[in-house]
Amino acid sequence: MRLMIVCTAAAMLAAAASASAQDDVAQRTEAARAAAADFGKTLIGQLQQAIAAGGAVNAIGVCHAIAPDIAAQKSAEWKMSIRRTSLKLRQRANAPDAWERRQLLRFEERKAAGENPAAIETGEYAEKDGKRVFRYMKAIPTGQLCLACHGPSIAPEVAARLKALYPQDAATGFKVGDLRGAFTITETP
Ligand code: HEC
Repeated sequence: MRLMIVCTAAAMLAAAASASAQDDVAQRTEAARAAAADFGKTLIGQLQQAIAAGGAVNAIGVCHAIAPDIAAQKSAEWKMSIRRTSLKLRQRANAPDAWERRQLLRFEERKAAGENPAAIETGEYAEKDGKRVFRYMKAIPTGQLCLACHGPSIAPEVAARLKALYPQDAATGFKVGDLRGAFTITETP
């Protein structure tokens, strides 16, 4: 009888611990999702402004010079590392690490299985540089706006500017709805 009580108590404790672990992941996922949305909104706003002011060639400058600045600024504001990454890169500095690469491949599988690309995300604790940290990624689907610089047919003057800045550019040929990449958020311990 006593053993049964002890076992039941242990099971209840384990269930409570796992529920609070789930709450913790849900809470951190929510914060990371908000940070990714804020970064994405700011970036798109700047991009739209630059395209309106001087077309796609002009806007390349925004993505080239300003995107990393906005990422740094948002990272400081949210106290998380906020970046973008992709399996097909334009900027080498955005290369995924092993965990990010695995998630990007999984995102492609989830999209192929019929999931809405705009809703694909993941959040979990993972090792990063030897530390256990919370990590989150959110898929970035390709929209109409993106095609001028990431699409299958890019205007010659845009292509020339991209080639000059990114001789190894692999981030073209995307169609609307394709996964262009992902936001990737790492909580700074
Ligand atoms: C005016 C041209 C232009 C447009 C339009 C544009 N991008 Fe980009 N994109 C770039 C450039 C340039 C970079 C490289 C930025 C850097 O050097 O950090 C880039 C980088 C990226 C990256 C980071 C991964 C990588 O390959 O380096 C993602 C993700 C991305 N773009 C998604 C998008 C999405 C989604 C849209 C549409 C909403 C979009 N881009 C529209 C020019 C553009």
